[in-house]
Amino acid sequence: MATLKGKNVILAVCGGIAVYKVCDLVRKLTAMDAAVFCVMTENAKKFVSPLTFQTLSNNKVYHDMFDTSSWDIEHVSLAQKADIVVVVPATANTIAKLAHGFADNLVCATVLATKAKVLVCPAMNTNMFEHQATQKNIMMLKDYGYKFVEPKTGKLACGIIGNGNLASVETIAETIIEEIA
Ligand SMILES: Cc1cc2nc3c(=O)[nH]c(=O)nc-3n(C[C@H](O)[C@H](O)[C@H](O)COP(=O)(O)O)c2cc1C
Repeated sequence: MATLKGKNVILAVCGGIAVYKVCDLVRKLTAMDAAVFCVMTENAKKFVSPLTFQTLSNNKVYHDMFDTSSWDIEHVSLAQKADIVVVVPATANTIAKLAHGFADNLVCATVLATKAKVLVCPAMNTNMFEHQATQKNIMMLKDYGYKFVEPKTGKLACGIIGNGNLASVETIAETIIEEIA
C-alpha cells in the first residue's frame, strides 16, 4: 500500500450532501499514515459533526476563525504545514468564493494562505455544475494552478441523473498520492 507518512493533508470540507463520503476519505488517508487535519465551513457542520472528523482523524477540527482558545492563527499555520489542501466536497458557493479570493471563513482563508498544492473535488446538482458562473469560476481556479478531481455522472441526491456526483473516494485518494507521495 502507498504511504503518506510524514505528509500533512488538510481537508477543507464544505456544506454539500457528499460530506459523509469525506469520512471514508479520512479513514483511507490515515490508513496510509497521513496526518489529516479537517477544516470545515459552518454549513459543512450541518451535514456531519466536527466530532466525527475529530474522531476519525485523531486531530482537532478547525471551523472557527475567531477561536480564542488557541493563540495560533489557525488558517496561517494550517496553510503553512500543508503538503496539500483538498477542498472536498467543493460546493458551488465555495468554488465561487475561492475564484474571487474571499477569506471570510477558515476554509477559504486556508486555501488563500497556502503555497501547497490545492486539489478541488466538486460535487453539486448538475445545473449548478453546468451553470456558466460555476464553469467560469472553475476555469479561474484551474488558471491559478489548482488541480481538479472531476465529478461523475450518476444519480444525484436531488433525484436526477446527471453530472455532479463526487468522484469516488478511491480516485480522490489516488490523486492525493500522485500529487504528494
Ligand atoms: C440538503 C442540502 C444539500 C446540498 N448539497 C449541495 C451540494 O452537493 N453541492 C453544493 O454546491 N451545494 C449544496 N447545497 C447548498 C449549500 O449547502 C449552500 O450553497 C451553502 O451556502 C454552501 O456553503 P459552504 O460553501 O460555505 O460550505 C446543499 C444544501 C442542502 C440544504
